[in-house]
Amino acid sequence: MATRNKSAKKKSGKDRSAEIEKAGAALRIQVREYVKNRDNPQPEGTIEPAKGKLGVMIPGMGAVATTFVAGVEAIRKGLAKPIGSLTQMGTVRLGKRTDGRSPKIKEFVPLATLDDLVFTGWDIYNDNMYEAASNAGVLDQRLLDQLKPFLSSVTPRAAVFDHNYVKKIDGPNVKKGKTKMDLAEQLRDDIRDFKKTSGVSRLITMWCGSTESFIAPTAAHQSVKAFEKALRENDEMIAPSMIYAYASLMEGVPFANGAPNLTVDLPVMLELSRKNEAPICGKDFKTGQTLMKTILAPGFKARMLGLSGWFSTNILGNRDGEVLDDPGSFKTKEESKLSVLEHILQPELYPELYGDMYHKVRINYYPPRGDNKEGWDNIDIFGWLGYPMQIKVDFLCRDSILAAPIVLDLVLLVDLAKRSAELKGIGIQEWLSFYFKSPMTAPGLYPEHDLFIQLMKLKNTLRHLKGEELITHLGLEYYD
Ligand SMILES: NC(=O)c1ccc[n+]([C@@H]2O[C@H](COP(=O)([O-])OP(=O)(O)OC[C@H]3O[C@@H](n4cnc5c(N)ncnc54)[C@H](O)[C@@H]3O)[C@@H](O)[C@H]2O)c1
Repeated sequence: MATRNKSAKKKSGKDRSAEIEKAGAALRIQVREYVKNRDNPQPEGTIEPAKGKLGVMIPGMGAVATTFVAGVEAIRKGLAKPIGSLTQMGTVRLGKRTDGRSPKIKEFVPLATLDDLVFTGWDIYNDNMYEAASNAGVLDQRLLDQLKPFLSSVTPRAAVFDHNYVKKIDGPNVKKGKTKMDLAEQLRDDIRDFKKTSGVSRLITMWCGSTESFIAPTAAHQSVKAFEKALRENDEMIAPSMIYAYASLMEGVPFANGAPNLTVDLPVMLELSRKNEAPICGKDFKTGQTLMKTILAPGFKARMLGLSGWFSTNILGNRDGEVLDDPGSFKTKEESKLSVLEHILQPELYPELYGDMYHKVRINYYPPRGDNKEGWDNIDIFGWLGYPMQIKVDFLCRDSILAAPIVLDLVLLVDLAKRSAELKGIGIQEWLSFYFKSPMTAPGLYPEHDLFIQLMKLKNTLRHLKGEELITHLGLEYYD
């Protein structure tokens, strides 16, 4: 009896501690839920599911566009892997480091799958995607031949083009219209036609066209009313890329800009984007040299190392290089590349370290290299007591190979934004700065260029959308 009592007593003690443990766990979940809901009042289910096909419309079927589309098809066929794509390969940590929760991004948020993507494009040349990809010379011809039937089926629609904005090229496949408004209407017809004939449920426009000549915003770009008047009056300050942007946003279709042109970085486009709940983002894919700059410069600043000069030069021989050989197009690119260091290093806060730096960027068209660019950087830094040091970076990169996964991620994430109740009406998607050389921001806000801050911003936005705790990296709770 005594033994039985003892064992019963022992058992109930064990039970009690299990109960306490269970109650503690439930309380911890409740507290987590409370904090989550307090910080994220957004109700569950405010991201619409990615149902149906997603139509990807690409003005500019050149090296980047064809490398992207051919790459997606190669991956769908199991011939290659989506290396470089955060949405396909990246994970996002949730909760504490000890929780062991790190799902893949594509499993954490409802993204369209690669099988859902359907493509169309516009170009001034008549080449279909197979021919254009073969001409671009980025991907191996044997791979392209395996994809030939699919790639040949993507043919270019007639482009809206103005030679004054891209001086080095000209082509036959161009729309005609009395006014720029007529051209915008024709693009809107193209969009509706693609939606109808392809049976897609959602659309996105992804500018992969050439870099246009540099212009500054004018009165015509300040409101929808002024812009529409300017379209009807054929105002020369309206570039072709802006006509594509206007047509897309009028159709409620999001627009991402891979080139440094202003395009959607204008008050008129922000107004339209918000009104029609069509997200916008840009500008200029962050690929080779600028990617390196936004990796290295935050490191120098973190260690309080000074910088006296940064000389960057590039040689490239693709069509993009030829277009950038024109001073007008180069100026657009130069502006985009130059702003990065100023914003990362903040010379106004650290005048002794960065107040006197010399930053120079050169791009030289050199045909033998094709798409395989070489970017040299000579970096003059200084350390303890002002002693100088030098760093040389020679990046033998492949431009379009670096750009293609960015295009894929932008397509999928901008489509996510369009389905998110919280993001679709805000206009500029600053959380996608990670992908751009000149990230667009709300008026008056300086852009965040540091790649690691940009990544944190992107992942925290995903956590926020899903009502997960944001990660601050404070980590004191591990030492309670
Ligand atoms: N790593 C990169 O490759 C990279 C990085 C950042 C930005 N970009 C930008 O991305 C864009 C595409 O680069 P790319 O290497 O594919 O260039 P590309 O010259 O191979 O392709 C651009 C295509 O756009 C077409 N085009 C020009 N104006 C057009 C218009 N109004 N409508 C329709 N088509 C038009 C051209 O005919 C050409 O086929 C460029 O603006 C480039 O500066 C590229």
